[in-house]
Amino acid sequence: MDGLPTPLRCFREHHAAEKFADDGAETVTSVEQKKVECSIEEVTSVYKQIHNIPQPTLLREQHYQYLKKGLRHLSDAYECLDASRPWLCFWILHSLELLEEPIPSTIASDVCQFLARCQTSSGGFAGGPGQHAHLAPTYATVNALCIIGTEEAYSIINREKLLDFLWSVKQPDGSFVMHVGGEVDVRSAYCAASVASLTNILTPKLFEDTTSWILRCQNWEGGLSGVPGLEAHGGYTFCGMAAMVILGKEHMLDLKALLRWVVSRQMRFEGGFQGRCNKLVDGCYSFWQAGLLPLLHRALFKDGESTLSRQQWMFEQQALQEYILLCCQNPTGGLLDKPGKSRDFYHTCYCLSGLSVAQHFGSLDGPHELILGREENRLAVTHPVYNICPEKVAQALEHFLRLPVPEDNRQRGASEQS
Ligand code: FPP
Ligand code: ZN
Repeated sequence: MDGLPTPLRCFREHHAAEKFADDGAETVTSVEQKKVECSIEEVTSVYKQIHNIPQPTLLREQHYQYLKKGLRHLSDAYECLDASRPWLCFWILHSLELLEEPIPSTIASDVCQFLARCQTSSGGFAGGPGQHAHLAPTYATVNALCIIGTEEAYSIINREKLLDFLWSVKQPDGSFVMHVGGEVDVRSAYCAASVASLTNILTPKLFEDTTSWILRCQNWEGGLSGVPGLEAHGGYTFCGMAAMVILGKEHMLDLKALLRWVVSRQMRFEGGFQGRCNKLVDGCYSFWQAGLLPLLHRALFKDGESTLSRQQWMFEQQALQEYILLCCQNPTGGLLDKPGKSRDFYHTCYCLSGLSVAQHFGSLDGPHELILGREENRLAVTHPVYNICPEKVAQALEHFLRLPVPEDNRQRGASEQS
């Protein structure tokens, strides 16, 4: 069966034995957990009753229409994301590439022109025109431009200035602040490493001490926290691990402890992932948590681990696909956190990204698919480090590797001094 798709046509049985047991000690948390399990039981049984053939279906057309509309018109509900507009571009464009829906060239060009207006004189990108540069929208912008992948898109990035910006947020201990005068956490190390590696401006000096700072974020649980000393969380763990992979030092993490922590975050009954211990399932962790498994698989393989599967990641890929397809789809398009929640572009992007990870296994032996439901449920593959399609990563690297790495005699705070 190597390399051939494995058809998964039927649902898993939802066993009551997998439900949360409070051992007679009811708490606010245990009550919430039970409510979520009930809602999932309801949603899945309704689905099985409505559909004669129990095949979960990805609502492609509905998601496509929802995403297409979002590129031009956003409802008032998105007002609160006025400082995250490049994120909206990335979430929508990446969802469309996962659905293998081409982006019309006029829309691509309009998005480029909008993102160009978000680049500030500091070299970073802001959450909207006229705002301050910040590492998170800088990451989202570079990813969105790489998805578009045209000369127009690449040429928007002023690499010399972007390097200035990265230096302006670098800290003496190796960490990065999210923006000048802002907070430090491990997201910034990933955002900086991601944009620097994609655009070929990564210099060893810029990331001096960064890996030792990230290592301090791995705690006794096995996962990573936002800053040293806090609780492990999937969002930060993904950022820390992916940054370590980009910087070539992933073997320095305690990979086995990380593996144990992340696989324990997949919920027994729900099939989806929680972000941290004792919290509720949420569709977006389908990427932040399950996306760690391809990174861990490769890291353990590089470390000489000989017992690794050549067909499957080390999580329940079928259970995650069921959670996403049965519990996270809005019937009119868009995906969501859990039953009862509203759809949004963030959850649409990360539910689809996680679904892609759960469908596609990739190793040196070649790919192996595990598609739950119909053939049409198959999504494109996503790159586990950057979360854009691998061809777009390769194309961007090919483009930027032809350009010289800017000379780096900058120092921390260089852009403020000049
Ligand atoms: C907890 O929210 C969420 C966080 C503390 C941050 C999550 C971080 C990410 C998703 C990574 C972001 C990545 C980049 C590249 C910027 P909560 O307390 O509402 O959720 P919970 O109950 O599920 O823990
Ligand atoms: Zn979420």
